[in-house]
Amino acid sequence: MSNFNQESVLSVHHWTDTLFSFRTTRDPSFRFRNGEFTMIGLKVNDKPLLRAYSVASANYEDELEFFSIKVPDGPLTSRLQHLKEGDSIIVSRKATGTLVIDNLMDGRNLYLIGTGTGLAPFLSVIKDPETYARFEKVVLLHGCRRVAELAYGEMITEKLPNDELLGEMVRNQLIYYPTVTRDPFRNRGRITDLITSGKLFEDIGLLKLDAGRDRVMMCGSPALLTDTKGILEQRGFIEGNHGEPGHFVVEKAFAER
Ligand code: A2P
Repeated sequence: MSNFNQESVLSVHHWTDTLFSFRTTRDPSFRFRNGEFTMIGLKVNDKPLLRAYSVASANYEDELEFFSIKVPDGPLTSRLQHLKEGDSIIVSRKATGTLVIDNLMDGRNLYLIGTGTGLAPFLSVIKDPETYARFEKVVLLHGCRRVAELAYGEMITEKLPNDELLGEMVRNQLIYYPTVTRDPFRNRGRITDLITSGKLFEDIGLLKLDAGRDRVMMCGSPALLTDTKGILEQRGFIEGNHGEPGHFVVEKAFAER
């Protein structure tokens, strides 16, 4: 049996010249935990060309969603960005990854820190009722260079709070904090700076990060991951992994993208 399913593209949305999302059919046999990634791609010269992509849809949805950058010379994304409704893509039957809430110890607040397309795994985490059952507050931080890159803002602030299943949990527990570094915007600056200066906590009305209370997941630029990990370790946070839950978890699968 093949390790891959063939899925059909249902819709494509271009956010900017460099960012797009697409939805596909989902083979009912494909199972994943919210926050995980899988290998997806295209057949090029009869060979599969694959990259790791977080699943941006929740594991109870009938369709799959992915959020991608467009790298002009990227072997896969230079092709993927031309996807149209009805095209086929290859999706691995297996999903994996560290950004699952089971890899975190119990705590009060969950911080989800993503830059750029590193937002993707958290889109499924914030649609998971289990996330709201385990944590009192869920703080979603999305850092980008430009305002136009703050994809999914409307889904998070308009659609989810009115969702039949999740609406009440989202309204009471989810705090969305988008921030940009190279445009004027209501929240400005790098996530790391907003944490160390304390500005983030003033803005959202929560206490500064504390390993006794707070849990963190992060995904995004390698520099952000290294720096944020350093900040957390200085404060006594311990990294979690499969089978050994910790105070924070990091997704390293996309370091090459
Ligand atoms: P900046 O504009 O100051 O570099 P990129 O598009 O390069 O992946 O960056 C996405 C966002 O992550 C940008 O806002 C960028 O800020 C920010 N960023 C880059 N490196 C770091 C870092 N080491 N710590 C925190 N934020 C970072």
